Amino acid sequence: MFKTIFNKFSSSTNKKNLGSSLFAHKNYENKLFNSIVGYSDIKKFLMRCIVSKEQVHILFTGPPATSKTVFLLEMSTELSNSYFIDSTATSGIGIVDFLFSNPNTKFLLIDEIDKLTKKDQTVLYNLMETGILSEMKAEKTKGFRQQKMNIKIFATCNELNKLTQPLKSRFMKLELPEYTWEEFLTISNNLIKSRYKYLDERLSTRIAEVVWKDIKTKDIRDVLKIARLTRNLEDIEDTAHTLMKYKPKD
Ligand SMILES: Nc1ncnc2c1ncn2[C@@H]1O[C@H](COP(=O)(O)OP(=O)(O)OP(=O)(O)O)[C@@H](O)[C@H]1O
Ligand SMILES: [Mg+2]
Repeated sequence: MFKTIFNKFSSSTNKKNLGSSLFAHKNYENKLFNSIVGYSDIKKFLMRCIVSKEQVHILFTGPPATSKTVFLLEMSTELSNSYFIDSTATSGIGIVDFLFSNPNTKFLLIDEIDKLTKKDQTVLYNLMETGILSEMKAEKTKGFRQQKMNIKIFATCNELNKLTQPLKSRFMKLELPEYTWEEFLTISNNLIKSRYKYLDERLSTRIAEVVWKDIKTKDIRDVLKIARLTRNLEDIEDTAHTLMKYKPKD
């Protein structure tokens, strides 16, 4: 269903009165990125970027487990003509080959873009700068390919200093802040409620508390790991006790 909404919005990019058609949709914020708790301003901003006729490029930075990757994954499921790339497992050549074979790609979703080599970052930078995908093969005999593309890049980055300056400067950057305790609790409760229906709020609150105040990782992933092993309060206390006792030093 959401795919339909996104298709509608993204295909309406070249229609007039786009803004009014987008924002006329009732409660659209709740329908898009619906697995992500909070960030209603960012969701709205991303929708503007998605429907815009202009070539906008967005970069998410921020601490671990602030849902940077989930934003890209939601877009990859909901947007037609999108391509999700895990930079730790893909090379620039792989990306370029894919784009030459799929010239209608509109949304390039690059997770952990800082893991791409400098050379691969240059290919992307050129594409963002000129809208032209270029490939110069090492051996002259293999020739030279070029292709005009109307593409938007949405990326996440863990270490901003690993990005080349020209690439960095082509992005609009959003740094997601660390969660406050109240946000952490709300997100934990929401996620546990939707994924582990048999755990009530008293249990999910306790899990959030031990991760935040005792284990002190402040990582939503740890909340979900403990929730998976929990049936009652005793499970939480036992697991938390063991994790604290053997917590790695670094
Ligand atoms: N606001 C949120 N709403 C829903 N889930 C969230 C939210 N914040 C974090 N999570 C959950 O936390 C987990 C980690 O999120 P994600 O993988 O997107 O983190 P990240 O920001 O990409 O972190 P990293 O920098 O380590 O890659 C996911 O299971 C996700 O569902
Ligand atoms: Mg991530």
